Amino acid sequence: MEFSTKLSTPGSSKSACVVVGVFESRTLSAPAAALDKAAKGALSKIVQSGDMDGRAGTTLLLQRMPQLACERVLLVGLGPEKSFDAKAFRGALQAALRAVKSTGAKEAEIHLTALAAGKHNGGNVTWRVTQAAALAIEAFYRFDHMKSKPETPASALQRLSFAYAAASERGAAEKGLAQGMALGNGMSFAKDLGNLPGNVCTPTYLANQAKELAKHFRTAGMTVQILNTAEMKKLGMGTLLSVARGSAEPPKLIVLEYRGGPKNQKPVVLVGKGVTFDTGGTSLKPAGEMDEMKFDMSGAGSVLGTLKAVGEMRLPINVVGIIPATENMPGSRATKPGDIVTSMSGQTVEILNTDAEGRLILCDALTYAERFDPVAVIDIATLTGACVIALGHVVSGVFANDDALAQEVLAAGEASHDRAWHMPLHDEYQEQLKSNFADFANIGGRPAGAVTAACYLSRFTKKFKWAHLDVAGTAWKSGKEKGSTGRPVPLLTQYLIHRADEK
Ligand code: BES
Ligand code: MN
Ligand code: ZN
Repeated sequence: MEFSTKLSTPGSSKSACVVVGVFESRTLSAPAAALDKAAKGALSKIVQSGDMDGRAGTTLLLQRMPQLACERVLLVGLGPEKSFDAKAFRGALQAALRAVKSTGAKEAEIHLTALAAGKHNGGNVTWRVTQAAALAIEAFYRFDHMKSKPETPASALQRLSFAYAAASERGAAEKGLAQGMALGNGMSFAKDLGNLPGNVCTPTYLANQAKELAKHFRTAGMTVQILNTAEMKKLGMGTLLSVARGSAEPPKLIVLEYRGGPKNQKPVVLVGKGVTFDTGGTSLKPAGEMDEMKFDMSGAGSVLGTLKAVGEMRLPINVVGIIPATENMPGSRATKPGDIVTSMSGQTVEILNTDAEGRLILCDALTYAERFDPVAVIDIATLTGACVIALGHVVSGVFANDDALAQEVLAAGEASHDRAWHMPLHDEYQEQLKSNFADFANIGGRPAGAVTAACYLSRFTKKFKWAHLDVAGTAWKSGKEKGSTGRPVPLLTQYLIHRADEK
């Protein structure tokens, strides 16, 4: 698929498919009104006839309208004009893309309606095109390269352009396109990694993907370092290695550095949980839906996806990605409940449940992050089933030891429509981690399981500003549409764009 921006007046467009919006109560958007004028009122007539009443999610395809040079017009319902916000904008685009995809048009041109006045980012062309390009890449995303032949025929569409109305908007539209494509490609990369099965996407596979990424963006300032078991042993990463013990697959610590900013600028460090398959270990999980634990490296996938987006945008900022990658298997050398191990920080941990393995690998990676003198550290992990119970599949959980950082993360989630919610981290919860035999335990019992997991991590993040994203409910979908969502790549990318803009 080829994407572009285009200065275009819909009335004179020769496109194979011109896409314009109609508000509820049958009001034409500005581009639709322009088209209507060229069509001598034919669109108003259709809208008045009731064939397209502007309800959100509806579409109507019109063929070869007299007076118009384009082959097709696709009308898209935008919902009520007064409340046309980011969510409605995205919903309408998704409906439009679905409809365009099923036409025979090889090429289409979308006119993006501005949000209602006062809605955030409303008049901003960059935001609109960014969203549109990323949504378009999402709409055409397929993961069928593990099938012997593709199931559904690919769409006829080859070229998609995002139209702007005034020549002065060209720069903003181009910037939006570059950002949106980088974001979409980053999300697709994260999705691919999540969707790949555990027998393909191993710790070694993730390390090789990181190497490829660094090679691709070498001239943009990306480098990679992969630490093996012996090197991790030397560093004293006892908790990380305790998880890898039960598996024949060697663990890897992946360290990706992107230096797009000034030399002396402190980096943002992203730490992603990379459990390429989580059986639970000795504390074995039940068999039902265990296949979904191939997604347990989604935090790692989001770090790689975000670094891909950042590299494609050549964002002027320094970012380090750290990925502890391992399987969690119940092999004969596997950690047993009650085992006590020493973390890289020197703190000892009583492992009461080997299925609480995410925090065991993250804590050593967080200690390793200290050496980068980070301005902020954000870890991303499919950490707890408890977070899914608390928040479902709508928002990711945010925990932080710094309120300003939490607010920045939440704001990035709002702006990118990859939303998150601030969760508590009060000291009182720490008591649940008490151990009779070690400094603390790796589980805190049933109450507030997502909070006590974050509490555990907080014991390794005293030296920097830190936020933790629990994406157990948001990184993938179960059921009929089972698959990776690419979240929270939009949130993380937006956070970094904000930071780069501030400089
Ligand atoms: N990877 C899981 C968390 C998870 C569970 C994500 C379900 C998505 C859906 C994690 O390693 C885990 O097993 N956590 C345990 C912790 C418990 C043993 C304290 C959990 O949530 O049950
Ligand atoms: Mn687990
Ligand atoms: Zn896990």
